[in-house]
Amino acid sequence: MTQLKVKADNSISLSKLQSINKNQKCVVVRCAPEVLLLSPPDRFPLSAQLSVKLTARNGQRVGARRRGRRVFLCWFGSTPEICVGDVGLAKRVLSDRTGLFPKNVTSPVLLKLLGNGLVLANGDEWQRHKKVVHPAFNTDKLKTMTATMAGCARSMVARWEEGGVASHGGRAVIELSGQFEEVTADVISHTAFGSSYAEGKQVFMALRELQFITFSTLLSVQIPGSRYFPTKKNLRVWMLDKKVRSTLMEIINNRLAAKEKAGGYGDDLLGLMLEASAPAPPEHGESRAPLLSMGEIIDECKTFFFAGQETTSHLLTWTMFLLSTHPEWQEKLRQEAVRECGCGGGDRLPTYDMLCKLKLMNLFLLETLRLYSPVPLIRRRTRAPVEMGGFTAPAGAILTLPIATMHRDEEVWGTDAGVFDPTRFDGAAGRRGGKKAALLSFSLGPRACIGQSFAMVETKAAVAAILRRFRLALSPEYVHAPTDVITLRPKHGLPMIVTSVHT
Ligand code: HEM
Repeated sequence: MTQLKVKADNSISLSKLQSINKNQKCVVVRCAPEVLLLSPPDRFPLSAQLSVKLTARNGQRVGARRRGRRVFLCWFGSTPEICVGDVGLAKRVLSDRTGLFPKNVTSPVLLKLLGNGLVLANGDEWQRHKKVVHPAFNTDKLKTMTATMAGCARSMVARWEEGGVASHGGRAVIELSGQFEEVTADVISHTAFGSSYAEGKQVFMALRELQFITFSTLLSVQIPGSRYFPTKKNLRVWMLDKKVRSTLMEIINNRLAAKEKAGGYGDDLLGLMLEASAPAPPEHGESRAPLLSMGEIIDECKTFFFAGQETTSHLLTWTMFLLSTHPEWQEKLRQEAVRECGCGGGDRLPTYDMLCKLKLMNLFLLETLRLYSPVPLIRRRTRAPVEMGGFTAPAGAILTLPIATMHRDEEVWGTDAGVFDPTRFDGAAGRRGGKKAALLSFSLGPRACIGQSFAMVETKAAVAAILRRFRLALSPEYVHAPTDVITLRPKHGLPMIVTSVHT
């Protein structure tokens, strides 16, 4: 059994980290709430034992116990990483503005999935992209987009009504996670790209498959150059990438063709990006290069098709799960939705202002994000040696910030960290308000989620539309198996008994 030598300054070289044989069963790391961070005792001086013990019964109550240090060596497949499970240190990493902790872009398949867009870009490139994309998410735009979000949600519940609930005496079993994948795809297609789910469907289906391939390759040993071999997996990745690009190009070409008639590219995300790709007017007699190239626009489209849909879809899924396991909250949220947004009949859609008044729903969503963070891990790389919780991480080390685990840390959240309790976010309750600062679901600092408000409004619109029309109860077929595949999804879906409130 290899013992790892730590230098006098308590640091460890990256090559040493990489030379450890992964077959020696060092550490297993998966960060879904139900999975454990394990490291065999005393195998590595740097590693500390951190165990998350689970008592999940339908996920209602999960106990966590931890001992030892919160910063330690761990493995992700064959890759050694430094797990930073201390909230204060994690915040320090995320808030850094000096470029010491850039994004870690090591997997070529991850690049195929997300493109070198806003999520993965670093430095000047990231700033240039952000400048173009940022205005698409301001509050005025969000207010306009709310109607589209509420409209998509209304179409979804109408389909449930017509497609099953009405014809089965006001009660039907519906697999909800698939429904939410569609509705969130529809929302991002309409709001950001002026297309519909039907048009973007090819992109979403290809991205889903790429996501699963990406996750499997993240865990396997990469032979240098192997990504160029025509293996079965690589051929599939290339085919899917081609499909995504050609479908996105079609959407872009349609917009370019409509420019004359529409009097411009439009002011949604795609419109802003196309505007930025047009040659800029000359400055001091010299023509300036466009802010974004067509290749960069395609990459950014991939980023938003994935980041804007997948995450929100899982937030909706876990929200519905927790509503069904906490019927008293379901009733409270229903009453609030009816009070603020009406009973759901007629043509009136909830507005942005109405959705902002859903205070209880807001608390509920924050607690859902805490317990079932759709992004359970954030990764960064160190650009230079840096002191981390008592030892020095070498330059180039990968840092893993286990959001799901930190969200159940009793030192941060109290002894009831494993208990579902939305009131912990209620500032007015005094007791524990202010906990929101420890919520890392949307990250924080300069690289915080640009779509945070978008996601919250979209989720509120969908939850309000559903609760005003239906009661929800878990189907006996449901199996609780949250799975981390870059995002946290229910492995076997979310079959739910949906009953009309009007019967
Ligand atoms: C519940 C829903 C969502 C969650 C939990 C979530 C979570 C996150 C997290 C944790 C990050 C930081 C990732 C990192 O640092 O590695 C992030 C970044 C990002 N998110 Fe989201 N997100 C959500 C919804 C959205 C939506 C709806 C959009 C777009 C419409 C979006 C677009 C982005 C983008 C572009 C970034 C990169 C920002 C940057 O680096 O400047 N996200 N998100």
